[in-house]
Amino acid sequence: MDQFIIQGGRRLRGEVAVSGAKNAALPIMAACLLADGPSKLTGLPDVADVKTLSSLLGELGVKADHHDDTVELEVAGENDSHARYDLVCTMRASICVLGPLLAKRGYARVAMPGGCAIGSRPIDIHLRGLEALGAQIDLKSGDVVAKAKRLKGAEIFLGGPFGSTVTGTANIMMAATLAEGTTVIESAACEPGVQDLADFLNKMGAKITGAGSPRITIEGVENLHGTTHQIIPDRIEAGTFMVASAITNGEVKLSQVRLDHMMAVVDKLRQIGVIIEKDNGGAVISSRRRISATDVTTQPYPGFPTDLQAQLMTLLCLAGGNSVITEKIYPDRFLHVSELARMGANIRKEGPTAIITGVKRLVGAPVMAGDLRASAALVLAGLAAEGTTTISRVYHIDRGYEHIETKLAALGADIKRVNE
Ligand code: EPZ
Repeated sequence: MDQFIIQGGRRLRGEVAVSGAKNAALPIMAACLLADGPSKLTGLPDVADVKTLSSLLGELGVKADHHDDTVELEVAGENDSHARYDLVCTMRASICVLGPLLAKRGYARVAMPGGCAIGSRPIDIHLRGLEALGAQIDLKSGDVVAKAKRLKGAEIFLGGPFGSTVTGTANIMMAATLAEGTTVIESAACEPGVQDLADFLNKMGAKITGAGSPRITIEGVENLHGTTHQIIPDRIEAGTFMVASAITNGEVKLSQVRLDHMMAVVDKLRQIGVIIEKDNGGAVISSRRRISATDVTTQPYPGFPTDLQAQLMTLLCLAGGNSVITEKIYPDRFLHVSELARMGANIRKEGPTAIITGVKRLVGAPVMAGDLRASAALVLAGLAAEGTTTISRVYHIDRGYEHIETKLAALGADIKRVNE
């Protein structure tokens, strides 16, 4: 397994391009199951999750031709509609093939994703939504088996105890495009990835209005055709690099960033003293003083994203004063806390809340990545720490960041990937 070795203390300077958004690309790739004909996606991030989904789609009869940041996807055969556990368990987002398979083929068998490091990852709201569209749902030895001759439009509420569901909204929206009649999704997720998926589906001939708002209306159509689409930039990667610049007192320009997709993040970072200036189509991030402490609660979009909670926590470890982070989406998403403590951070966890007492410095140490965003947080800590930080199990970070060590090294970081 690979490790990162980081010598901390380097100020990051220069320009970095934000890659395409993993969490937009995955449901859009799954949506290609709905099309009669090929689709071409550009701006695809070179990350493990995209490769995993591409292999899964291959097993479902989709031909995928990848070159650079582009993939052409076309359904070549509909013989196999079983998404097996060995692939689904490595990437929970595989559940996004359920809606399109069911709508297009009338049958789908998809392994239940199970939990992961950030908590139990239920799909009860997905299944309730598909049943509302007329699907028969059974559970067979760990798989969801869904059947429907033709789905029928319905009014569906997708709210749950932690707000809406991003991939659940994607699944129901995709399934509803080929249903008979009109579907209204109430309490839909509003994330930019959901909006990008709706744009893609409408280019395929779907009739979707309201994406990006909590109420989405989908008028069913008979069929969808292939199309071309550029994936939106990744707001979570962008936020990660904003913290990288701030935590090293650097000056980094992000190109291809959509600040309008991350206003809660920009607002919070500016509140604590990070300077974020628009710069023709991009943004320049710098900080010239010690970061101030703050309180933040993760919320569904447009609130502060849970996927940047660990990265912000790392920055707040060095702030002047006490900060409080409350995790409202995944209450257990604190794997990074114990590893940051190994580097000298002073964090106390109380249920879904972490209290961070700012310290003057972090000190490099051997640490272990536990999940995608926790590992990004450890990289950020290593950049700021005195001395050497060794991060093992970096396969977690490769799931969602495109060559992060190359991008950081190009900004002046001393970071190397070595084989453990
Ligand atoms: C998406 O996951 C993202 N993944 C996650 O990013 C992100 O953290 C999450 O949305 C929240 O923003 C992709 O888009 C591929 P949810 P998803 O369904 O759709 C509960 C990353 O780091 N819930 O919106 O699986 C659930 O337990 C990943 O890139 C139910 O109770 O998340 C959670 O508490 C990690 N029942 C909350 O809702 C359901 O049926 C939000 O989950 C579905 C979800």
